[in-house]
Amino acid sequence: MTTGRVQQLGYLGLDVTDVAAWENMATNVLAMEVSGKAADGSLYLRMDAFHHRFILHESDHDGLAYVGWEVQDAAALDAVCNQLAAIGVPTTEVTDEEKEVRGVLGLRRFPDQDGVPNELFYGPLLTDEYMVPWSLRGRYVTGPLGLGHITSQISDLDEHLRIYVDGLGFRISGRRDAELGPGVVARVAPLRCNRRHHSINCVELPAPPKLLHIGLQFADIDEVGIAMDKAKERGLVEIPLGRHQGDHMLSFYMRTPSGFQIEVGWGGRELDDDFRVEQYDGAYASIWGHEGIQ
Ligand SMILES: [Fe+2]
Repeated sequence: MTTGRVQQLGYLGLDVTDVAAWENMATNVLAMEVSGKAADGSLYLRMDAFHHRFILHESDHDGLAYVGWEVQDAAALDAVCNQLAAIGVPTTEVTDEEKEVRGVLGLRRFPDQDGVPNELFYGPLLTDEYMVPWSLRGRYVTGPLGLGHITSQISDLDEHLRIYVDGLGFRISGRRDAELGPGVVARVAPLRCNRRHHSINCVELPAPPKLLHIGLQFADIDEVGIAMDKAKERGLVEIPLGRHQGDHMLSFYMRTPSGFQIEVGWGGRELDDDFRVEQYDGAYASIWGHEGIQ
């Protein structure tokens, strides 16, 4: 049997109450482009050669609508779906309309243990339209590393690892147990599916599951500074600059119109196959800075 694995975080679908505020932030602070509207009226945002990396669905609530994980091809999609089925996680077909909105060749879906719709796809739509970032300096670090990472508050780390490691082929990059208060311990595990230190960071907490932040990485450190200036002007900065122990990204965190944060960074390290699992400590799991982060 072919062994399948997820290769990158391909796209994110977001439920958004204020699409105009998102468009404003994405284009004016984060140098993204609006790349059109889907057949169902949702808004596409672009940050690299992918036709879109974000799909914003107007909604009466804010949050993660779905996570798109890219696999190599149709055979890999079958292989990953078989692996999931073998551990008791069946995948389902999606409608042609949904496939058209995502703009991919192949697509299947399953909910994780917290009910978050995960989508497995291959064949994303690319575009060669010229993209002009506002600073004319760097670009986002994407390509084989994917769009960035998500950090999610989850209910059960062991079950999460069963799905993501055994089912989807992720590898554990590190572990951290952070005591957030008397008797409250966050069990944290960053997971990778390519050379990026983590494409998903899992934070088990005795609280309702939710998306905590989306991490993006610029190629040029000045892009981080420029984005931070623009975020500061708008009162959006929530966590100041710092550098993480895990991925070594220098970053700050800003608030989105949906309440969760976007981490804007630069300088994340790229791991090779010999990378050994690490254990992190420290109040903020940061080498310096990031005051106030958990
Ligand atoms: Fe992060």
